[in-house]
Amino acid sequence: MRKVVIGGLILLVFIVIAILAFYLVNSVLYAYVYPSRSPEQPIAFSHKLHAGDNEIPCLFCHIYATKSRVSGVPSVQRCYGCHKAIKTKSPEIKKVLGYWKEKKPIPWVKVHDLPDYIYFTHKRHVNAGVRCQECHGPVETMDKIRRVAPLGMGWCLDCHRNRHERKGGPKGPEDCWECHA
Ligand code: HEC
Ligand code: HEC
Ligand code: HEC
Ligand code: HEC
Ligand code: HEC
Repeated sequence: MRKVVIGGLILLVFIVIAILAFYLVNSVLYAYVYPSRSPEQPIAFSHKLHAGDNEIPCLFCHIYATKSRVSGVPSVQRCYGCHKAIKTKSPEIKKVLGYWKEKKPIPWVKVHDLPDYIYFTHKRHVNAGVRCQECHGPVETMDKIRRVAPLGMGWCLDCHRNRHERKGGPKGPEDCWECHA
């Protein structure tokens, strides 16, 4: 009898330690690992300067967000539209003008990237009233863009299950085949 009680206690302690360890690892990941996805870019482009200080709307540059699966990154032509006249003496803008002259796309490094077997579409989310910032964080305050969300299955499902209660609007799907096409 006593052995069973002691065995049970040891098991309980193990379970508590396991749960604590899980939360510890998770909070470290969320605090330090996930947000640190912020690769070096070929040009020091600042969202704070463009979308924040100068209030250029997200959709002015990410023109596909309401129309397609991807949001798309703007072409050099979009940059040139303003920078043929703005800050042309700056070394970073000279780089932009160099790409324009050579008719080469700027080789931006992807910050967000889901595995190919996941079906995700911007159009449906953005048109349902989910704001860019709910998934991408306060982009307009970022000098260098970084990923703030884990983009894992738990993250998608948490919003699909619970956002409706928090903010109203439509509920996202929970059936496996909706995301695993
Ligand atoms: C003047 C044009 C411009 C505006 C305005 C702009 N962006 Fe961007 N955005 C870019 C460029 C260029 C990149 C690629 C370079 C980089 O990652 O910094 C980018 C990258 C991003 C990325 C990361 C893409 C990836 O690789 O995963 C996100 C997310 C993003 N923008 C969201 C936003 C949001 C949200 C807004 C509005 C608050 C916004 N952008 C406004 C030009 C713009
Ligand atoms: C709607 C106009 C507009 C567009 C489009 C635009 N920019 Fe800008 N950009 C600005 C303004 C305004 C500033 C701030 C200029 C200042 O500080 O006086 C700026 C500043 C910059 C700077 C900082 C320059 C420096 O040395 O201070 C960089 C780099 C830059 N832009 C890159 C880009 C790139 C790359 C694109 C295309 C993806 C782009 N911009 C598209 C208006 C624009
Ligand atoms: C429901 C969450 C969600 C919302 C809302 C959202 N995004 Fe995204 N965004 C993502 C995910 C997830 C990815 C990665 C997609 C992939 O790798 O296939 C991504 C990728 C991107 C990219 C990288 C290039 C691309 O198109 O795949 C840009 C740029 C971007 N988002 C901009 C925006 C802008 C601008 C808005 C608002 C108009 C927005 N996003 C709204 C989740 C979201
Ligand atoms: C911040 C909230 C939020 C996040 C995060 C989110 N979604 Fe959604 N999602 C929604 C909402 C709201 C809808 C319902 C849209 C509608 O019914 O018009 C939806 C709908 C969908 C749909 C059905 C639309 C269609 O075109 O079939 C798919 C698939 C989907 N989401 C995939 C994903 C995936 C994959 C992720 C994670 C990478 C994700 N979502 C993250 C809010 C979110
Ligand atoms: C709302 C979208 C969504 C739904 C619904 C969904 N998944 Fe996922 N699932 C994802 C995403 C996003 C990933 C990719 C995580 C990553 O980056 O590795 C994933 C990954 C997985 C993986 C790979 C292992 C892992 O954790 O990375 C398995 C297995 C899986 N899902 C099974 C399921 C099953 C079974 C269901 C139905 C009960 C389901 N999924 C429903 C979005 C979804």
